[in-house]
Amino acid sequence: MKRTSLLLCLTVLLIGHSTFGADTPISNQPDSVYLFTYATIKNSNTNGLHYAWSTDQESWTSIGPEMRFLFCDYGRWGVEKRMITPFLFRAADGKWHCVWSLNEHTGTFAHAESKDLIYWLPQTYPIVMKDNNCLETEISNDPDGKYTISWLSTANGTKKTYSVTTADFKSYSPANELALSDRLNQHKKIQISGNTETGTVHKVAWELVESLMNKQKLNAYRDQQWSETTKTDSIRFASQKPLNATITVDNSKQKKISDMMIGVFFEDINYAADGGLYAELLQNRDFEYALSDKEGRDKSWNSNKSWRLKGNGAAFSIDSVSSIHPNNLHYAVLKITETGGGLVNEGFDGIAIKSGEKYDFSVFVRNPDQKSKKLLVRLIGKNGENYGETTVSASAAGWKKVEAILTAKQTATDAQLEVVPQTAGTVHLDMISLFPQKTFNGRKNGLRADLAQTIADLHPRFIRFPGGCVAHGDGLDNIYRWKNTVGPLESRKPLKNLWGYHQTVGLGYFEYFQFCEEIGAAPLPVIAAGVPCQNSATGGAGQQGGIPMCDMDDYVQDVLDLIEWANGNVTTKWGKIRAESGHPKPFNLKYIGIGNEDLINDIFEERFTMIFNAVKEKHPEITVIGTVGPSFEGTDYVEGWKIATKLQVPLVDEHYYQSPGWFIHNQDYYDKYDRTKPKVYLGEYASHLPGRVTNIETALSEALYLTACERNGDVVSMTSYAPLLAKEGHTQWNPDLIYFNNSEVKPTVDYFVQQLYGQNSGDTYLVSDVKLSDKNESVRKRVAVSVVCDSKSNDLIVKMVNMLPVAVNTNVRLDGMNNFSSSATRTVLTGIPTDKKARPATDEIAVSGEFPCNLPAYSFTVIRIKKTIDN
Ligand code: AHR
Repeated sequence: MKRTSLLLCLTVLLIGHSTFGADTPISNQPDSVYLFTYATIKNSNTNGLHYAWSTDQESWTSIGPEMRFLFCDYGRWGVEKRMITPFLFRAADGKWHCVWSLNEHTGTFAHAESKDLIYWLPQTYPIVMKDNNCLETEISNDPDGKYTISWLSTANGTKKTYSVTTADFKSYSPANELALSDRLNQHKKIQISGNTETGTVHKVAWELVESLMNKQKLNAYRDQQWSETTKTDSIRFASQKPLNATITVDNSKQKKISDMMIGVFFEDINYAADGGLYAELLQNRDFEYALSDKEGRDKSWNSNKSWRLKGNGAAFSIDSVSSIHPNNLHYAVLKITETGGGLVNEGFDGIAIKSGEKYDFSVFVRNPDQKSKKLLVRLIGKNGENYGETTVSASAAGWKKVEAILTAKQTATDAQLEVVPQTAGTVHLDMISLFPQKTFNGRKNGLRADLAQTIADLHPRFIRFPGGCVAHGDGLDNIYRWKNTVGPLESRKPLKNLWGYHQTVGLGYFEYFQFCEEIGAAPLPVIAAGVPCQNSATGGAGQQGGIPMCDMDDYVQDVLDLIEWANGNVTTKWGKIRAESGHPKPFNLKYIGIGNEDLINDIFEERFTMIFNAVKEKHPEITVIGTVGPSFEGTDYVEGWKIATKLQVPLVDEHYYQSPGWFIHNQDYYDKYDRTKPKVYLGEYASHLPGRVTNIETALSEALYLTACERNGDVVSMTSYAPLLAKEGHTQWNPDLIYFNNSEVKPTVDYFVQQLYGQNSGDTYLVSDVKLSDKNESVRKRVAVSVVCDSKSNDLIVKMVNMLPVAVNTNVRLDGMNNFSSSATRTVLTGIPTDKKARPATDEIAVSGEFPCNLPAYSFTVIRIKKTIDN
């Protein structure tokens, strides 16, 4: 499972050159030395656990400058993730336990355990104090074989000492107050590189320190490889001449591969849904924006957001008495004393309209004064220009939805919408909405046509939704609950978006499933594994607060209900609800993701197992996708794989955002995956340069890596680049596949790699042999080939990536294949590495049993050959 070839080479290299190598003992190496374990205060204590060694406790050598052997994963990025005064303890069984303080205010400490000080088991964060903090934790042995963890608490103004005992570092006794004098105060202060650091000192075998040093050297070596970019190609390939290559495709060596390889990852991040793919043009249509969406940081982010009053005799307030629905509490109260006043909505950075196009306006209106009124509804320009108008009547005393159509008189990107009562009096307004009629496939409550089409053009075999972190949410109350996102829009339950804005959930499960169906992609909903995001701030320390076990049965039932809603016939409870939304036919759900790159600990495992077993038992036809953390390695990855293997989860979701160098040097990542274990859904990945830049270089490194995914298409079943969409000016995450504003769609170069793979996928892999005229390792790793056959079209597809600064003059030989057309389609994506605007170009080329094909410097070439009969 590990990337052994690189590691093996390195280990040999390191041992060969090491003056400390265990296999080549040096007579004067010490038997034992002192090991100091500490964390620096750099970056607000987020640099993790460090080691230094000494023979005399006077002069200390740190193992790698700021090398992090253990990283604190508690709480939110940017504020938490701190390791303060770590304390290392060696138990009688030889296992190492590390405890540390997390911050100055929480009554929680962190614990992790390791056998070798390199691989650390999952961290736990026991809550031991309610209203006090937990500083300078230390461990000592109790005579009865238990461990005592003690700490100082200062938050209440007085310094006190408390302790708990534990036998297993899983369950703890209640906290007891200790006399200050009972503290052992085992922390030491040591000078490291001129700074005084606090930590613990142990006498350890030299071999242990040597293994830590080797780990550090290995990391430094791989970091150097992975940071290779094309910037240094002029040095790396200074004397490189164009190469010759022969690519021999062996028709007799074939294997079946997944036909679901390319999909998309949709998350409501970067305004991907509201203000993005969801075609609603008005912002805060439901007056449900709340200060809490932005945790109070933006005082203007409230129920009034995006609305303003116009005219003199008008007043606007928010009320929640007798609202349309308990999930949609707030509405606008508009009081007009002088006609001409009204409410204006700014849209999402303005409203983009096109001359001659029609727009559907709707509003829920109520007349508390029971005076029937007309509302003038106008699209206006910044200076009040009239871009189109209509009227609706407000005559009912109770809530009533009224609708009208507006036709735009001109094209504008910064229009606004105003609602102006034509009679003095009071009206209540809610769910004020404006949609273009030209949505994707003309759907009501539909998707923005240009964005949806750009996604459809990828030919994705599946769509993952609603995230990402949005799926598991910021704290328990923010877990995305699918039931809140279906049914009439006014009854859906909006929620804070974990990325710092607001989700109307107008684009909800029904709309996701419908979009999937319309573009021929399998729906892949990802639901939380009963735990919120480990980076949550709300509700304490991330995952340590999973859904209480007493509520888990209901949660599991929600998951089973989702399957019934998607697939059940109309006589079932949830199938009927789907039918009432306008889709009597089942949606044919086949996949469910459980969890999103969660912290893998006992809390996760217990809940994941419950959900997995229930789905497996009730719906063996559904393929469950498990989760293995946010990285290609590390504790969550290892422990996640252990659980998935134990439970025989069909697929696991891997995530990694890496440099082009990583993708170049890890093309063998899946070559040695155990074929008997779960298959892989590479659910989130992207290549990016420093500054999170993407261009031809990143795109080609993804193309290169995808050849390896196709080669391993028997184990890698699905992949999706992440994230999919980002609105200019509202981007929380880079890179993204498609950028956009209100009127333009701007696919990245990386998009075209996804598109070329999506449009040219296959279900059979043909082994090919690549012979290069230059055998240099750096050259070899930058040329990659994948040949697949698509049984639906019967086409043979040859994909070739050249990441070298020189051309590769290639001869393609199709051994054992006779019956194919003499001309083929060739598509080439090429440019200088920094090119962000490159687009694929397609032409026809002549092909035969052996044909030439020049691969330009920095290029991705796809040749699609029609086979005339199967051979
Ligand atoms: O894709 C953006 C974020 O990256 C996702 O929400 C999360 O799963 C990952 O960390």
